[in-house]
Amino acid sequence: MPAMRWTGEMSQITRRSFLKVSTQALLAASGMLGLGALLRYLGYQASPPPITQLDLGPASAYPPGSRTLLPDVPALLVHTEVGFSAISLVCTHLGCTVEPTPQGFACPCHGSEFDPGGLPRRGPAEKPLPSLQVEQDAEGRLILHVV
Ligand code: FES
Repeated sequence: MPAMRWTGEMSQITRRSFLKVSTQALLAASGMLGLGALLRYLGYQASPPPITQLDLGPASAYPPGSRTLLPDVPALLVHTEVGFSAISLVCTHLGCTVEPTPQGFACPCHGSEFDPGGLPRRGPAEKPLPSLQVEQDAEGRLILHVV
């Protein structure tokens, strides 16, 4: 059996083999990444639908004259001698959450101000804060309609 000698041709074959194996490894890795992305896409679950009604509990929990911040909505529940009302705290400019102030509401994002009834007093917001429907069910619980 002849002894193997290191030649330039052998070196080229080795390089070629190395490049072939490297290319196959890169293709396999990119295929695995693509497969992972596909599996993530197929397993995607849309977020749950937004809450449209919120049970606020017994109406007796909100005494006349109370103003209750509902941060999860966000909204402000107001109980006056006329009854219950709620106002959305989503700014009508670009959707930031406005904050109650002694003069009404103020938006921290771009400076819009609203009067206590939600009407715009200072822009850039031009539309009033939306009123939300509040009703009392047969059991005396308050139901807030968010949308
Ligand atoms: S989002 Fe409220 S003023 Fe712009």
